[in-house]
Amino acid sequence: MMTIAIIGSGAMGSGIAQVVAMAGNKVLLYDTNEAALGRAEKNLLSTLDKLASKGKISNAQATECAQNISYVGSIAGLAQAQLVIEAIVEDLAVKQEVFGNIEAVVAKDCVLASNTSSLSIASIAAACEVPERVIGIHFFNPAPLMALVEIIPAVQTREGLADEVKDWVSSWGKLAVITKDTPGFIVNRVARPYYSEAIRIMEEGMASCATIDAAMVGLGGFRMGPFALMDFIGHDVNYRVTESVFTAFFFDPRYKPSLSQKRLYEAGYLGRKTGRGFYNYAEGAEQPIADTDVALQQKILNRILVMLINEAADALFLNIATAADLETAMTKGVNYPKGLLAWAEELGWANVLQQLDELYNYYHEDRYRASGYIRNKIAVG
Ligand code: NAI
Repeated sequence: MMTIAIIGSGAMGSGIAQVVAMAGNKVLLYDTNEAALGRAEKNLLSTLDKLASKGKISNAQATECAQNISYVGSIAGLAQAQLVIEAIVEDLAVKQEVFGNIEAVVAKDCVLASNTSSLSIASIAAACEVPERVIGIHFFNPAPLMALVEIIPAVQTREGLADEVKDWVSSWGKLAVITKDTPGFIVNRVARPYYSEAIRIMEEGMASCATIDAAMVGLGGFRMGPFALMDFIGHDVNYRVTESVFTAFFFDPRYKPSLSQKRLYEAGYLGRKTGRGFYNYAEGAEQPIADTDVALQQKILNRILVMLINEAADALFLNIATAADLETAMTKGVNYPKGLLAWAEELGWANVLQQLDELYNYYHEDRYRASGYIRNKIAVG
């Protein structure tokens, strides 16, 4: 069992605290904001109570988990940590300063991790005296419920640390995948077309949000259609992730954000949480009806699917992760009905390439360029 310090007791930090404490580790939960720390304690105790009363965990487990967590108001209180997981505001300068402060109090062999979604781990490690011990450990929200964790070694990270961290993450009951330190890591990169191609289809007037959602759920077997999912995630979060991946990829058109979504974000129509996004959630609001034309729905599914497959293939082509980790990330991280590479095998790679090339030839946009992985695959049979 380890002593794990968690910096930041917001949505992610308190969720991560619950995960690692439940697995029997001692947690030092630290926040500069006393009120946030108090809220985290109250919420964690109430969550454990609820889990125990529903029979999901025993009373003894709830008590042990609660006792494993100490709420720490000063950084000096983190000295015993063997691992630090930082989950504070997504701001590089603030994170760099905090990493510097942590290094001054913890032991030389303490591993320092960031839960960042969009910053490079290399840029965080660069602020440290011992950058070899810095790594990304990226949880998904809500951390206690989401099975996947992405592990991101930076160029500075010492050889072997990613595998050690993978063992720790597995001991917390999570599925760990290892990915390169590139924008969006695996999930937030490969999943982009699920949103952007769906919006593009809607913007072109090919089909409505309701029809596209119906195609992806009904024919594709996805848990939620892209528009319902974006409304659920919130356009503030989803749009900003798209914009940050696009910027970080030097404005590669494949990741271009959509104006329709930006306008919703600007208008404050953030989705479910504000009562309005692509759909209207007001009580009694009329809900749009999907077009049941199967040929149209199939065309929609194929177009979004080949774009997703292209993204997964390209991530493999560029050695962002192993094929197995790519499949695990998309099926366990975002609950896709099948791994995208397996799906491509089923459809036939030649068929996938033909559809991508048709889109490319029609639009003459770089967005639709097929990955070299797919062309190689066909060239070698
Ligand atoms: P949050 O805003 O809910 O919590 C951040 C907490 O950090 C606050 O309680 C704040 O008081 C504290 N904090 C700020 N500066 C601090 C400092 N210098 N020292 C100690 N504590 C400080 O944020 P959230 O959503 O939990 O995100 C945290 C990190 O996790 C970000 O890097 C974010 O990109 C990443 N992340 C967020 C996900 C999400 O869906 N919310 C998913 C995966 C990663």
